[in-house]
Amino acid sequence: MLKQMLATKSLEMLQEEMDSGEHRLRRILGPVALTSLGVGAIIGTGIFVLVGLTAKTMAGPSLMLSFVVSGLGCGFAAFCYAEFAAMTPVAGSAYTYAYATLGEVFAWIIGWDLILEYAVGSATVAHGWSKYFLKLLEVFHIHVPSFLANDPLTVKNTIETLPPIIQGAYIGGGCPISAWFNLPAFLIVWIITIILVKGIRESAGFNSAMVIFKLIIVFIVIVAGAFLVDPKNWNPFIPPEFGWPGVMTGAAYVFFAYIGFDSISTHAEEAINPKKDVPIGIVASLGICTLLYIAVAAVLTGMVPYKMIDVEAPVASAFSVHGWNFIVFIVALGAITGITSVLLVMMLSQPRIFLAMSRDGLMPKHIFAVVHPVFKTPHRATLLMGVVVSLGASLVPLEDLAHLVNIGTLLAFTIVCASVWLMRHMRPDHPRPFRCPMVPLIPILGIAFNLGMMIYLGWMTWLRLFIWLFIGFIIYLLYGRHNSVMHKQSLKADPTVS
Ligand code: ALA
Repeated sequence: MLKQMLATKSLEMLQEEMDSGEHRLRRILGPVALTSLGVGAIIGTGIFVLVGLTAKTMAGPSLMLSFVVSGLGCGFAAFCYAEFAAMTPVAGSAYTYAYATLGEVFAWIIGWDLILEYAVGSATVAHGWSKYFLKLLEVFHIHVPSFLANDPLTVKNTIETLPPIIQGAYIGGGCPISAWFNLPAFLIVWIITIILVKGIRESAGFNSAMVIFKLIIVFIVIVAGAFLVDPKNWNPFIPPEFGWPGVMTGAAYVFFAYIGFDSISTHAEEAINPKKDVPIGIVASLGICTLLYIAVAAVLTGMVPYKMIDVEAPVASAFSVHGWNFIVFIVALGAITGITSVLLVMMLSQPRIFLAMSRDGLMPKHIFAVVHPVFKTPHRATLLMGVVVSLGASLVPLEDLAHLVNIGTLLAFTIVCASVWLMRHMRPDHPRPFRCPMVPLIPILGIAFNLGMMIYLGWMTWLRLFIWLFIGFIIYLLYGRHNSVMHKQSLKADPTVS
């Protein structure tokens, strides 16, 4: 059994599968489309929403440093991702890389862990989307009742806040729950799900338009915000009540803002020239976003004293404070558009990882490996995603979702960094169209930064990660181990294998 668990899939096997053409996706993405997918996946809830809480309660103006620390961790991991993505340009990302290096059980664990990044990540993003949607409605004086605009755990409503007709239902006992669920978050997930079932070509075009609009809005925030900066707000740069631990806690939280560049590697199979274009896409999109984030962090903390930053829709609200209401509208609209494009890419990526896992027999093929005959999309997996993500987005608090996504993704990054280093020893001669520079220094720094940020996420998040991984391990023992294609092949070759 241990032998099976540690069995690796050779790079040749991956290439062979790649060439065989069964259940293949269409190759339609070039370098610009891939970079645009990357930027589309990166700039979203993190920079528009999570920065508020980070600046106010963790880092103050040193939010800029938090972005630097977190950006470095991602940068090191990005080089490792790029090497792997170019070597094994098939769907599946870190899951596939782990199968090639660490063995089946680790691959499964990573695939399972990536659900935290993509599915729980999508729920987080949709939740963040709802904040700006509500802000935009507010500009038009439309107020969604709070019991339909929040998850049940965050907002503690009293019975008086419910509409009279609903208050009646509670007369005579029963404890009114707070909010019921987040309706805008629920609805946006379903709109995206339907778009994705229809197909990637349409989605990629739609994505590019949204990415351009989002970049324009970020520039407007930076330029307009620069006029409103009061340098006094940057003093003290690291507030004494937070200190350096605050910078690190902030880095671990805003790390969410960088998630997404790695999703380019999940599209390697759809790239026209994956060996060249995928590394370009990864490194370019991460570089662009890092610079923009540091600039946004600077203007946000310069415009408003950090203690007064709004945690719901911080970037738009910073302009309200100065009475620049026309910008509030533009920023809210831009944030909604930008976050929608993130949701699109994230929800596009998860079914592709499932696809890779089910091809290997670790997940049921009849659900996850079926590609729609006309649309050529993994429609069943996409619909299942829709159900899970819409429930998570509408029922779970934003902070809890973000913490879980971050710890899961940081773990995946750490493993990818370790795998690149390991692979240089295991397969030194295998062609590497893109080589991560300075190995082992870059992978070691990647491991150190990403593990370092994980430490600052708190024991509750660690506990949740362990529970999640434990559940995954049990599923592997009960399902994957018996259905693994590699295991079945080795049984055929040698029936004595257990
Ligand atoms: N980086 C993405 C966001 O901030 C996930 O929304």
